[in-house]
Amino acid sequence: MTAMQWFFSFIKKHMKRLIFALVLVTINSVGAIVTPKISGIVVDDVIMGGSRDNLLILVIILLSVTLLRSVIRFCFAMIFEKTSQKVLYEIRDYVYQNFMKQDFTFYNNNRTGDLMSRQTGDMDAIRHFVAYPIYAIYENTLLFVIALVMVFIVDYRLALCMIAVMPLTVFVTAKQLLSVKPAFQNIRQHFSSLNTFVQENISGNRVVKAFAKEDYEIAKFNIENDGFRDAELSASEIWKKYVPVFEFLAHALTVILYMVGGIMVVKGSMSMGNLVAISGYLWMFNMPLRQAGWLVNDVQRFTTSVEKVYSTISVEPSIKEPKQAVVKDYFKGDIEFNKVSYSIGQEEILKDIDFRVKAGQTVGIIGPTGSGKTTLMNLLCRFYDVSSGSITLDGIDVKKIGLHSLRDNIGLAMQDVFLFSDTIEGNIAFARPDCSVEEVIAAAKVANAHDFIIQMPDGYDTIVGERGVGLSGGQKQRISLARALLKKPSIMILDDTTSAVDMETETLIQDELKSLEGNYTVFIIAHRISSVKDADLILVVEDGRIVEAGDHESLLDENGYYHKVFHHQYGDFDKILKETKGRDDTLENTNEKRMGE
Ligand SMILES: Nc1ncnc2c1ncn2[C@@H]1O[C@H](COP(=O)(O)OP(=O)(O)OP(=O)(O)O)[C@@H](O)[C@H]1O
Ligand SMILES: [Mg+2]
Repeated sequence: MTAMQWFFSFIKKHMKRLIFALVLVTINSVGAIVTPKISGIVVDDVIMGGSRDNLLILVIILLSVTLLRSVIRFCFAMIFEKTSQKVLYEIRDYVYQNFMKQDFTFYNNNRTGDLMSRQTGDMDAIRHFVAYPIYAIYENTLLFVIALVMVFIVDYRLALCMIAVMPLTVFVTAKQLLSVKPAFQNIRQHFSSLNTFVQENISGNRVVKAFAKEDYEIAKFNIENDGFRDAELSASEIWKKYVPVFEFLAHALTVILYMVGGIMVVKGSMSMGNLVAISGYLWMFNMPLRQAGWLVNDVQRFTTSVEKVYSTISVEPSIKEPKQAVVKDYFKGDIEFNKVSYSIGQEEILKDIDFRVKAGQTVGIIGPTGSGKTTLMNLLCRFYDVSSGSITLDGIDVKKIGLHSLRDNIGLAMQDVFLFSDTIEGNIAFARPDCSVEEVIAAAKVANAHDFIIQMPDGYDTIVGERGVGLSGGQKQRISLARALLKKPSIMILDDTTSAVDMETETLIQDELKSLEGNYTVFIIAHRISSVKDADLILVVEDGRIVEAGDHESLLDENGYYHKVFHHQYGDFDKILKETKGRDDTLENTNEKRMGE
């Protein structure tokens, strides 16, 4: 499908209404011949002939036709305007749904500002095309043809003289069409870029302020702004060259008419009334020529925007819904990674990942930053697909499970917490908006968030700003944890979820989570030993591989990465503990001995 075919698939639904409107345009255009025709009769019969018999009827016809044409114009303009709004609504809806279906790779490859431009500026260019140029092009062509036919009827020689300008008109129109296209593509590019810059700088304004880089960013903005202005100016440089040419052609027609027509009247081969009537058709020749330059611009703006939107949405997501998807409301949560590897281009992110987890177990994942812990979970959720090997849930390959069914069974507290501009309650109840307040509170209590929430001015109704502005890092993490818990999933993934909370709060959360143990399979990704030490299985990931696996005790005995991190975090605490324990034992023995004596 081409971009245009895609666009016309939206127009098709409104075809009947549009054809009706085009019929009205046709009636209106044909009605345009009435005024010049009557003017000609008035000149020949009334002014030159001196007969006033039909003057009143002619004036009444003139007024009625003018009134009727105004009403018809209003009607078809309204139909096109309304249809444009409907088409805009449908296309915007389609594009948004497409955005929602896209995968992580799509969002990695497309800048937010670009996607925003698709939904704003580009949509408006498309809407405008339906609202005006569609009928304006038809109306102007029709007026031109009708005027030409009328001149032909009056005098074919004069008509042939006027046709002489047509090849030149077609040539200039085609040339403008071709030359403005790259200019409009350039404008769209700069508009997207400007949008992205503004969006990123407003979102990242706190960083700009923290680094006192306002002036630097303003200078960068000015470059973007200049770029956009220059793109608009260079486009207008191109099309403004054509506007005078069209104006010249319009004037040339006037000159041809009065010169050739005047000579014919003087020679007596044409009546004065006919010359007046033909001069009345002049605007029907002139208007299309005067508007041609502008309409060509509108058409090119529109085609550029349709192509941009279509190229964005025609990207096939690499993560696809399986053909015969397994759909289940509930999965137990048995998970197996079988020799899983994952590469991005040439870079191998994960290699030979192999482990099994039974439903209800807790898995701790620890390892240096950038070692692949988050990626491991991204593969389980099918945000990306494994390059080789397989991941199974309850013995079914995740690639065969319906995407919604799979993700609906996973509660994910992401490392990069994102909260919506909504109430705290709304954020926690995101997965189940119709759940009861009690359930929201219960989830918040497990996440140790209830106490700080009720201390906020509006409690659970407190609106958190964009991305959770107004909350501390640890508070955001706890709301994100509550949001995942409320889903009551069979698999929980807590990616660095307690990294920003103090140890005491972490312990409280862990105690609460322990009370839910067995209800779901939990993956806890962390850098702190304290977060993972109680897990049934701890995986140590280093450079994309599982280098150690086991429980806390066995990993401590291994003397590897886990042991090293433990000593980093706890110092020689365990040694002191052992020594103290040894001393206590000695003391106890001595006491026992003394008591025995
Ligand atoms: N979309 C991506 N494109 C290219 N490389 C990526 C992408 N996502 C992750 N990586 C790379 O994959 C590696 C593993 O990243 P990952 O986020 O899984 O690390 P991590 O173990 O979770 O680190 P951290 O502890 O800092 O959260 C990193 O080297 C990272 O640069
Ligand atoms: Mg990570």
